[in-house]
Amino acid sequence: MRPCHARASVVFGRTHMDRNTYLIIHLIGISVLALGVGGMMAGGEKRKTFAILQGIGLLVMLVSGFGLLAKLGLGYPHFAIVKTVLWLLIGALPVIFRKLKTPLPAAILISIILIGIMAYLGVVKPALW
Ligand code: HEM
Repeated sequence: MRPCHARASVVFGRTHMDRNTYLIIHLIGISVLALGVGGMMAGGEKRKTFAILQGIGLLVMLVSGFGLLAKLGLGYPHFAIVKTVLWLLIGALPVIFRKLKTPLPAAILISIILIGIMAYLGVVKPALW
């Protein structure tokens, strides 16, 4: 007879989130993050709402990102280290733009490029050093 804990782990295994679930959450997180950053740039009285969106988006990206690493069995490779550093930078962007009084078109372009680099790193997974 199969021991009880083995049966429990089979059930757990089936109900556990798979790689695609983490990937979809990772992609939804990008839109939440981008909405937040965009709203912060626009400023206005709803700034706090967008700051919260940015925070939620960032958290979702971090958790699903490390979930993906675990699902893929990758450990903590170069591209993920760079993504973690850039993740911090993206979190600080609205504050940096405000402090430096970055012109809006430049701020938009920098944000798009940074998110593009994150996408490149995630898709290509380059060995960097
Ligand atoms: C602002 C934050 C981030 C953005 C915008 C971002 C963006 C992306 C994008 C667009 C992809 C490609 C998804 C696909 O293959 O369809 C991706 C994949 C990936 N990301 Fe991120 N990412 C972010 C943060 C992170 C963090 C913090 C980690 C972990 C340290 C991470 C780990 C991964 C991994 C492992 C993949 C590969 C997924 C796969 O091949 O299935 N990401 N990311």
